[in-house]
Amino acid sequence: MSEKPVINYGLEGIYVDESSISKVDGQNGRLWYRGYSIESLASQSNFEEVSYLLLNGRLPSKQEYEEYTKKLRERRGLPKEVIDVIRVMAPVSHPMDVMRTATSMLVMYDSDPNNRDLEATKDKIITLLAKTPTIAAATGRFREEKKYIPPDISLGHSENFLYMLSGKKPNEFEGKLIDLMFILHAEHSTNASTFSVLVTASTLADVYAAITAGIGTLKGPLHGGADEAALNMMNAIGNPDNTEKYIEEALEGKQRIMGFGHRVYKTYDPRAKLVRNYLEESLTKEPSDEVRRLLQIALRAEKLMVDKLGATKGIWPNVDFFAGPLYRVLGIDSHLFTPIFVASRTSGWGSHIVEYWHNNKLVRPVEWYVGSLDTPYVPMDMR
Ligand code: ACO
Repeated sequence: MSEKPVINYGLEGIYVDESSISKVDGQNGRLWYRGYSIESLASQSNFEEVSYLLLNGRLPSKQEYEEYTKKLRERRGLPKEVIDVIRVMAPVSHPMDVMRTATSMLVMYDSDPNNRDLEATKDKIITLLAKTPTIAAATGRFREEKKYIPPDISLGHSENFLYMLSGKKPNEFEGKLIDLMFILHAEHSTNASTFSVLVTASTLADVYAAITAGIGTLKGPLHGGADEAALNMMNAIGNPDNTEKYIEEALEGKQRIMGFGHRVYKTYDPRAKLVRNYLEESLTKEPSDEVRRLLQIALRAEKLMVDKLGATKGIWPNVDFFAGPLYRVLGIDSHLFTPIFVASRTSGWGSHIVEYWHNNKLVRPVEWYVGSLDTPYVPMDMR
């Protein structure tokens, strides 16, 4: 019998590849996409440019930017059958289930889905990037029994998303907020959903299959679904004065507080800091009572969690904690938070597919078997 190996549960600390897409410094709370700090991209760039950067490894020239954004704008529309499926599913299914199904359907409209040439792969990713916001917005509309609003190609990528959802063209501040969320969620190294995308891509399944796998993985509350779960918790707290009691009791009951903690960040997630800053700025723009209340709860919960668990366990707010209140500034329903995450993260997932296929290797980890061997088979009527 060979000696039991060290088992890295949850693949914690395991390197699976080299990558030049993003760097997460969990000790110092820093994040870079292709070498550019998240702070510089959040303040100076926009989602279109960031997604180009992730996919191509460098910032675009003016001409490249125009060609790229033209494709993104022109491909926003959805085939009728996809809209019909969204209409049927939206009232009864979680928007992440709708997103997973509608994204998977898009393979039908690709005449060469298995083409893995570099340019063909990037082209499929651009198509998915263009259409996933439309899927999220259509889902939001149909959930509320409202009519589908087709994309407006005169608007930027994330502004158009808000327009398709609300029917109103966002003002400059609203446009900045939604674009910020798209930028911050675009990429985050080999987390659970990106790894899931890579596992699927490593079998040489097509781009649609890989992205669909990522969507399924992102749904869970320990990953992308934490933004919705965190807002649900804030709503359950209700009155800011209940915050401390609620959190203390939840911790005593060994519950996890959604939007806190991270496998890699053992300090403040830099994305959470950016969201918090913009949220505080929104207080200067006459926010609703709901947003004021949510922010009070969030800040009190943050203080308690950081005092209790920050230094001792390295548990700090992650990007999902302040995301909910910020989406509420924009009037976005909590069920749509994670689909928006998909629409943005498709750029990171797609960039990882391109990088991984450059030097593809089938993912196949091993398990240490602890069951029995050579068990005698007993026929059913003798059991
Ligand atoms: N609330 C309370 N306690 C927590 C939390 C939390 N949010 N997160 C971790 N802990 C505690 C655990 O109970 C455990 O305590 P113990 O050592 O006394 O048993 C300890 O911290 C370590 O927890 P692990 O689950 O082993 O740490 P891991 O690195 O695997 O956890 C995770 C990372 C899953 C994100 C975790 O922090 C968590 O569940 N957070 C809440 C969900 C969440 O916000 N997810 C979004 C992450 S960001 C993203 O995916 C976009």
